[in-house]
Amino acid sequence: MYAIDIQNVTYCYPDSTTAIKDISLQIPVDAKIALLGPNGAGKSTLLHHLNGLKLPQQGSVSIMGVPLNKKSSKAIRQKVGLVFQDPDDQVISGSVWEDVQFGPRNLGLSEEEVEEVSDVALDSVGMLEFKSKAPYQLSYGQKKRVAIAGVLAMKPDIVILDEPMSYLDPQGQDEVARLLQDLNCMGKTILLSTHDVDFAVSWADTIILMKGGQILAYGGPELLVDEEWIRRANLHMPRIARLFRMVPDLNLEKLPKNEQEAARLIHKLINLQGSSI
Ligand SMILES: Nc1ncnc2c1ncn2[C@@H]1O[C@H](COP(=O)(O)OP(=O)(O)OP(=O)(O)O)[C@@H](O)[C@H]1O
Ligand SMILES: [Mg+2]
Repeated sequence: MYAIDIQNVTYCYPDSTTAIKDISLQIPVDAKIALLGPNGAGKSTLLHHLNGLKLPQQGSVSIMGVPLNKKSSKAIRQKVGLVFQDPDDQVISGSVWEDVQFGPRNLGLSEEEVEEVSDVALDSVGMLEFKSKAPYQLSYGQKKRVAIAGVLAMKPDIVILDEPMSYLDPQGQDEVARLLQDLNCMGKTILLSTHDVDFAVSWADTIILMKGGQILAYGGPELLVDEEWIRRANLHMPRIARLFRMVPDLNLEKLPKNEQEAARLIHKLINLQGSSI
């Protein structure tokens, strides 16, 4: 059984824009997936299909083997948490605590349990001290963190995040990356969209490339150091790979994808050269 099973899904907006075309995709339980592609590729439209926010006009979506439809969408929303691209679409209550407590309260938890899960979620994104603020009193990045907390407070099995890193400061990005790693270690399936190839290549175990409403490629992080796929998906290579590509006479079979691989490669080159490098 897959965490998410998408079969031949097509979605057309009312103005006749076909945003996704005949997409089929299977996402295993426990996966850590990054979805990349140019603006307008259809990433957000696809992600909105995974918790019933949009229902497929053609094709089907199943979550943990349960087909997604009007009847099942409420139950599926408890299993699949979706963090929107724009926090202004998500953080809409009068205060941060009301916003984060909204979901757990609807699950019928006791007041103490609601407070406990909400405080833990807010703490995990560094927003506990902003609990009493109104959303309009927060910066965009802070609202993004609250939106993530609101989803985590529901303890979903599958966490979908539409561009979670945008507007976060560098330390906030590191914290969210660690948080997503921890959630994955706890057995949660994580699927996120991002334009950040450096983050995607070092965090994800699977990469999906999208363009023009279709899946271009599905594979390991090495897709992001493959010239042909990078060109076809309007991306650029991770910074570390671009740096090694600039070194003259270094005809590497495989470019390093991340800092760890680059460090190992430099160490190997030093050993080959003796101590003169
Ligand atoms: N409400 C809408 N009405 C009509 N067309 C839309 C609407 N929302 C999105 N689209 C179109 O659907 C296509 C896919 O958009 P989508 O937002 O899914 O792309 P994306 O990959 O998430 O882009 P980005 O990287 O900019 O977030 C685009 O051509 C876009 O113009
Ligand atoms: Mg988008």
